Amino acid sequence: HRKVTKICCIGAGYVGGPTCAVIALKNTHIIVTIVDVNPTRIAAWNSDSLPIYEPGLDAVVKECRGRNLFFSTDVDKGILEADLIFVSVNTPTKTQGVGAGYAADLGYVEAATRRVAEVATGDKIVVEKSTVPCRTAQSMRVILEANSRPGIHFDILSNPEFLAEGTAISDLMCPDRVLIGSLDTPAGRSAAASLADVYAGWVPRNQIITMNLWSSELSKLAANAMLAQRISSINALSAICEATGADIDEVSYACGLDSRIGPKFLKASVGFGGSCFQKDILNLVYLSESLHLPEVAAYWKQVVEFNEHQKKRFLHRIITCLFNTLTAKKITLLGFAFKADTGDTRESPAITLAKYLRAERAHITIYDPQVTEDQIWLDLSEPGVVDDIESLKKQVTICNNKYEACEGADAVVVCTEWKEFKMQKDPADTRGMDWTRVYEKMKKPAFVFDGRLILDVHRMEEIGFQLESIGRPGKGFRRSKDWE
Ligand code: NAI
Repeated sequence: HRKVTKICCIGAGYVGGPTCAVIALKNTHIIVTIVDVNPTRIAAWNSDSLPIYEPGLDAVVKECRGRNLFFSTDVDKGILEADLIFVSVNTPTKTQGVGAGYAADLGYVEAATRRVAEVATGDKIVVEKSTVPCRTAQSMRVILEANSRPGIHFDILSNPEFLAEGTAISDLMCPDRVLIGSLDTPAGRSAAASLADVYAGWVPRNQIITMNLWSSELSKLAANAMLAQRISSINALSAICEATGADIDEVSYACGLDSRIGPKFLKASVGFGGSCFQKDILNLVYLSESLHLPEVAAYWKQVVEFNEHQKKRFLHRIITCLFNTLTAKKITLLGFAFKADTGDTRESPAITLAKYLRAERAHITIYDPQVTEDQIWLDLSEPGVVDDIESLKKQVTICNNKYEACEGADAVVVCTEWKEFKMQKDPADTRGMDWTRVYEKMKKPAFVFDGRLILDVHRMEEIGFQLESIGRPGKGFRRSKDWE
């Protein structure tokens, strides 16, 4: 099989950037060029402040950039020179037309594929890195063959990415597995072997799995659906805990000790977010419906519906505890990213919560250590509503100091599990939070709503807070059930 010497990655996003940076780091003999149609993003990749925040990413890029890693807006040149091309463009949920709200918008994948077909003057291996519905490789093949110069051969591989934002670099360095799907033909197997060699630069061979194209495509959707389902399952149980006096952390610990279940990804929370879980499940729902499998569709759809319910449940708890009105009350949101260690806010539960709180006419103050102010305004404004931004700015304050953000608040809501919101170990621990200092400057009773289960009930109550955590009954409950 062919040895890959030049790689082009189309799409310099959360996936293309880190993935290909690590490929370049571990394969100094391969020239890796990451291209994107967005010049601002490429400029940022070429600067000292990278367009995405990921622990460890800066160091990797610093080491390879200019050596065998390049970022460019010249998509055609990247395609022309490469023998292997990753297609790592966005595949958002369609917002209109057939399948709106469910189906993946494959417009970007198709545009990138057409570009490859038009530009290529030699044989190429084209790799689906984007998460796509099952059998997309078939469409890509038709497009490539119908639009390319005669005599050029394309091999299409599926190589879904399993990295998680916030731990992208360590996930890429030590992946649980690398999945490569190909057609079961001599050419397909040979292309898969070429790609496997790239990963073998650092991943043990027995963790590089090859399989049929359609299994590989479906495995990515399946993995995300099952991960999200674990979250919705534990969140559904958290509702029972709040109503009965059970504690979701204890339930999750007890269940996780069963080796068939396992302890990971069983943390209850205000809900999952991120660009992938919801999109990929809805994609699976749409796929099931198009295959005339309505029961299958309904099963997976419930995972997303429960996630919405969990956010609403949390809001209701805030309203109930704050004496049934939030009007003009100061509510501080700690964290706006969809999870810790990322600046990404796509589908962040904090967005939904902030919108709900706005509808309750609360005054909202937001602090996040990584999300930019512009991003927060963008996430909270309704597209197309001109005067919205003004009323938004009357109701929402963005603060770059976590203690100032909490001053005078009626309630503090932990939306993201950033380490800096955990209680400091001792007064010298500057990485944690001095909750006593927060308490002193808050309105009383001082409510904290822990949407990520990072705060200890007893220590918070010792300070004087009324702590209301997901999956645990609040103080109100305990008072009324004094037989506990
Ligand atoms: P992203 O939106 O951060 O990046 C995609 C990039 O592709 C954008 O910068 C866009 O300008 C560029 N692009 C779009 N069309 C293009 C074209 N025709 N030519 C050149 N550039 C083009 O998206 P992200 O998060 O990197 O996701 C990419 C894919 O990877 C999606 O399918 C996603 O589902 C999948 N994925 C995402 C993960 C994540 O954690 N974000 C994890 C695993 C998979």
